[in-house]
Amino acid sequence: MTALDDSIVYLNGEFVPLNEAKISVMDRGFLFGDGVYEVIPVYGGRPLRLDEHMTRLENSLRGIRMEPPLSTGEWAAVFSRLIQGSHDQSIYLQVTRGVAPKRDHAIPPEIEPTVFAMCTPIAPLPIEGIKAITVDDIRWQWCHIKAITLLANVLLRQAAVDRGCTESILIRDASAVEGAASNLFVLVDGVLITPPKSNELLPGITRDLVLEIALQNGIAVQERKITLSELKAGPEVWLTSSTREIMPVIELDGAQVGEGVPGPLWQRMQALYQDYKEILRRPS
Ligand code: PDD
Repeated sequence: MTALDDSIVYLNGEFVPLNEAKISVMDRGFLFGDGVYEVIPVYGGRPLRLDEHMTRLENSLRGIRMEPPLSTGEWAAVFSRLIQGSHDQSIYLQVTRGVAPKRDHAIPPEIEPTVFAMCTPIAPLPIEGIKAITVDDIRWQWCHIKAITLLANVLLRQAAVDRGCTESILIRDASAVEGAASNLFVLVDGVLITPPKSNELLPGITRDLVLEIALQNGIAVQERKITLSELKAGPEVWLTSSTREIMPVIELDGAQVGEGVPGPLWQRMQALYQDYKEILRRPS
């Protein structure tokens, strides 16, 4: 039992303590990984980029032939009941196809989705930089859908942990695509590069925010493929996600990245990103 166990979560229209939230073993999320999810950071009690997260959720649901179970307003009402205090936290929400009468791959015609949401504190972030490895991207071809079916991502990230590293950078056809649970930025000839959105990667909300901040501040950016050799030569490599923000990679496959410390462009972007969060925290 942890302190989390009695926190209040949302399950199918009800607010219940976490340790009382139960679903059927016949839930297709459990049996098939048949569902999608979102992770939304919350600063000063306010979700960051809520509309963008909700749009991505709708896209993911459409991608697996499901309708949104709640409207954006209904989701917002759920979140405001789950968010406690003003510390940094993150909302996790998951929608599965629901409970089926029998185990059958084909989608049952009449089925109610299972809708779950919880809010947990965000762990303090390491700003001294992280170590990463490169691995072959063994995932499927619909990586733009934020599916709960994360076995490949789990194994790929564990490969990094097994080698004393934090994250794996996934390589497909000699291009660096994204991290196992993060998007990728590499500095190439003074230009900040990130791969373009496609079915090969998750359209990260943090990624879009970093691009937007860069453009607003005169930092040269380009969305294009990153070759493995550009990744290896990059004086700065960053990995972004809602819960880990902008992680500077200081060691890649055992070799030092740049000077082996978070680089000057990261320092600048980190300050701009923290300013952005601060504005959200400030009472309006
Ligand atoms: N993961 N790519 C993948 C494969 C991811 O799983 C994530 C986030 C990202 C970054 O997306 P965003 O900036 O919207 O968080 C990119 C979440 C945090 C998770 O699975 O917990």
